Parts: sequence; C-alpha cells; structure tokens
Amino acid sequence: MNVKENVQQILEHFHIEQFQHDLIDWFRTEQRDLPWRKNKDPYKIWVSEVMLQQTRVDTVIPYFYQFIEKFPTLDALADAKEEEVLKAWEGLGYYSRVRNLHAAVKEVKEKYGGRVPASKEQFSSLKGVGPYTTGAVLSIAYGIPEPAVDGNVMRVLSRIFYITDDIARASTRKKFEQIVSCIISHDDPSDFNQALMELGALVCTPKNPSCFLCPVQRHCRAFAEGVEAELPVKTKGKAPKHVAFRAIVLTNEEGKIRIEKRPSSGLLANLWQFPNDEHAPTPNEQAFIKEISERYHVVLRSIQRIGTFEHVFSHIVWHIEAYKGNALELQIDDETNKWVTVDELNQYAFPVIYQKIWQAYE
Ligand code: ADE
Repeated sequence: MNVKENVQQILEHFHIEQFQHDLIDWFRTEQRDLPWRKNKDPYKIWVSEVMLQQTRVDTVIPYFYQFIEKFPTLDALADAKEEEVLKAWEGLGYYSRVRNLHAAVKEVKEKYGGRVPASKEQFSSLKGVGPYTTGAVLSIAYGIPEPAVDGNVMRVLSRIFYITDDIARASTRKKFEQIVSCIISHDDPSDFNQALMELGALVCTPKNPSCFLCPVQRHCRAFAEGVEAELPVKTKGKAPKHVAFRAIVLTNEEGKIRIEKRPSSGLLANLWQFPNDEHAPTPNEQAFIKEISERYHVVLRSIQRIGTFEHVFSHIVWHIEAYKGNALELQIDDETNKWVTVDELNQYAFPVIYQKIWQAYE
C-alpha cells in the first residue's frame, strides 16, 4: 500500500467537517490570549513561530515583546547588525534559528521589497524555513490551507487516528502532513492549524491528557480504545555526549574582563564567551593556568574556583569548572578578542551557562 492509499484508509469513516467544526468552535472560545495573535502581520507571526520551535510559550512571550519592540518591522530586522540580533535572542537557545531568520528577512527585503511572500515555493526556499514554518506562517498570516505539523500536532493526530508510526522518522511527519492537507478547513486554515497546536498545549498533553474536556473526543480513536497514554510512539535518540572543561573570568589590572567570540559555525556560533579549554580540556588547574597564560599572552599566577556549571543542549551536556583570576595583560584586542568593562559586557550575547558563571562571579 502506498502512502496515499494508506492516508485514504486512515480517513475512511472520519467525519472531516464535523471534526473541523468541533475543533474550531472550541478554539474560538478557549484560545489563549497570546501576543502574536493580536494581528496577522506575517513578519510578527514568522518571528513567533521561529521562537516557538523548541521553546515553551511562557518563555517565548517576554522575548517576543522585546524582540518586536527592538525590530518592529521586517526592514528593521533586515537592517540590524547580527550582534544586536543575537543579543535580543540571548537565552532562547538554538541561535542558528535567528541567524537564519536574519538572513531570510534580508532576502525578503531585497528580493520581495520587504513583503513576506505568500507563495509556498518562494517562502519555503528562504534560509531556515522548513515545512512547519511554511505551513504556520502561510496559514496563520495569509489563510492558505497548508499543514503545519510539529511534535505537538503529531501527538494530537497520532491519538485521534491511532497512528503508531515512530514520530522521530521524517516519513511519519510527511504522513501527518498529508493527513492535515486532507482535513484542514479551507474556510479557516489559520484557526484550524492553531487549534491543533492549542489542543496539544492545553488538552492533549504528553502526560495525563484531559480527554474528558476534549472538544474532539468523539473523533478520537485512541480514546475509544483507551490507548491515548501509549501514543505517540517515539524512539529514543542517542544518549547525549558529556563534555567537561574549564573556563575563567579573567580580569586585567584595570578590572577589565577578557571575552572572545566563538567561531562563526557550530554550536553557539558567533556568541561570546570567557576564555576556556573546551577544545582541549586540561587535566588539572596548573595545566589550565599554563594554557591560558600562553594562549592569551598574560602573566597569570593563581586562580580561584567559582563553581561547577552544567548546561544540557540537544545532543551535548557541558560541565564547566569555572574560575576567576587576575592577570598582567600583554595581549592587545582584535575583532574577536577583547578586554571590556563590566558595563560594556552587556552589549555582547553570551550563552546562558556563561551568564550563570558571570552571575556567580559577581
Ligand atoms: N506553538 C507553535 N506555534 C504556536 C502558536 N502559534 N500558538 C501557540 N503555540 C504554538
């Protein structure tokens, strides 16, 4: 059986219109009052959807307000310096998302006169824009009936249709996109897609879903069979890699702090950090002092421990042993290595773990 036949079979005996009705009616009365729902500006919807990938709504709200205040229009973001954009994203994580968004809005400004394209082909070919972002922005901002399938929507649909395919597989996402293409409301694609997201957030939650409050309970095959807790099926990814290393808040005789810019690709690209031995961890404090002294051409006699800090990324866990130390400065600044004052430190975007080290130092 090919995918199309499979989807047809899944949708047999499913009451599409009744489902749309039950879902959208519920959404119109129960939806949360979220800042990106106040208008249909495609730029703002786009920003919100990029922020909402991998990050919870509660966390996103203050970032969204702050980001839109700083960059109120697509042109404003396109014209901003990357440094400023990263600073506005500081703490949200997955920084390549905003670097891609920045590149994409520049392209929209140049190629499309600053107007977010309403064409699926044009919009989805922009940097960092995948099928989810395409569907979300085109449906919510322009009312185009495109599926917007993320992990939450896959959870909801795997229960409604009792689908046991592994949601970690790309082919499963495609299957769900085909299903949504068949069941999406053409009268209101925006409310339909947002209602599926909202149902996943408020009712059809990963643990202990509130099936007795569910507006589409009568359509739900998992509920009918009592198997909602076993869905969705998701295989576990690889165990994360643990990396332990040292970092130092290094000050000079004027009380300035040494900072350096991370490489322009890879984890936390272009963010700033304190000197560290991430790439070749040293075996002990003496070796660390020697490494830092040589690399930064400073005279560093002793260091004091601040504490241990941990940060969990999607595939890596960092364990940083943090120190402070005062050095006799011999090295001069360049574009990616600077001595800065405490006040100037605020202009640079740091990964959260380095912000925590700074707070503990202070
Ligand atoms: N998650 C992803 N997109 C969302 C949206 N537009 N509203 C609420 N939650 C979401």
